[in-house]
Amino acid sequence: MPLQNETFLQACRGERPAHTPIWLMRQAGRYMPEYRAVRSRVTFNQLCRSPDLCAEVTLQPIDGLGVDAAILFSDILVVFDALGIDVRFEPSPVIATPVRTEAEALALRWGDPHEHLGYVFDAVRACKRALADRVPLIGFCGAPFTTLSYLVEGQTSREFEKIKGMIFSAPKVFAGLMENMTSLLCEYLRGQVLAGVDALQVFDSWAGALSPADYREHVLPHLARLVHFTRGLGVPLILFVRGNANLLALAAELPAEVIGIDWSIDMDQAIAVTGPNRVVQGNLDPMLLLGPAELVERKARACVAAGRAAKAHIFNLGHGISRHTDPAIARHLVEVVHSA
Ligand code: CP3
Repeated sequence: MPLQNETFLQACRGERPAHTPIWLMRQAGRYMPEYRAVRSRVTFNQLCRSPDLCAEVTLQPIDGLGVDAAILFSDILVVFDALGIDVRFEPSPVIATPVRTEAEALALRWGDPHEHLGYVFDAVRACKRALADRVPLIGFCGAPFTTLSYLVEGQTSREFEKIKGMIFSAPKVFAGLMENMTSLLCEYLRGQVLAGVDALQVFDSWAGALSPADYREHVLPHLARLVHFTRGLGVPLILFVRGNANLLALAAELPAEVIGIDWSIDMDQAIAVTGPNRVVQGNLDPMLLLGPAELVERKARACVAAGRAAKAHIFNLGHGISRHTDPAIARHLVEVVHSA
């Protein structure tokens, strides 16, 4: 069944649709009153485990903003269900039983995501039904390093002392955890594709914790295995490696169709790295949306103009939208990009 709005998938394929497609990272969230209304009735954990509510929330920015793609409402940390490890959202994530020693790493039970994460695959099916082929649905996971960083740090970290300490003092323990995490994530993404997602995004949100040389040595081989695995799933992949523009050249070595660009580099400079034959996604600083409409318009138009040097451009923010954003300015951004 063809989609009514194919612009996002066309751009993933390297085509240039009539307008630049746009979606926003974290487009379903607390900045939207409709989302807060749902969240007032359930916890975040309950929401992620209720396929019908996930579908309702996934569609809120499709109806409210007019974006060209939906992203499954879930979280990168639900995969810990396959390990039997609980995450509380306060609202920042907290893992009560972090894994820091070799003994703790060896004691982990790596369950099958097809068995433990069925509610995510149900949510994919519920989203696809609710979308009724209006726009494509993006599935996602955290990259092995970002996901593992939560398991080891136990929370969002500033310095990444525990996981970097593990990399440098117990590299074999780290590599073993990365190996298992990567296998889990491969199967998790396969499950999402089997359930019906039209594209995938891998978030390496905390990649910038490492120097490029250490990222290449300790992380890139595992990320490469994940990316190569997804090439066999038949849907395009967006690879978003965030936090240090010097990692962009490493990300661009991997065969993802689309390279996500964060806001730490200007789009023309990013495309100079990824080259004219690559599709890019990004990269407006999300905090710009806290500024006046004229500023958002000017910066968005400049980003679209710069994006023309790439093979194709999917407009997005350079990281997740702030919870303090006025939904009206997000809606305005979509109109500006569509008319640029
Ligand atoms: O983009 C979307 O609309 C889809 C939903 C989505 C969420 N989290 C919902 C969410 C996606 C794609 C994510 C990914 C995610 N989760 C990442 C990678 C992307 C990034 O931002 O770098 C990371 C690092 C996480 C971990 C996570 N989950 C954090 C750090 C937090 C707290 C954030 C905060 O703003 O307080 C969460 C919770 C979370 N995930 C919320 C939402 C809407 C807020 C929870 C709430 O409703 O109380």
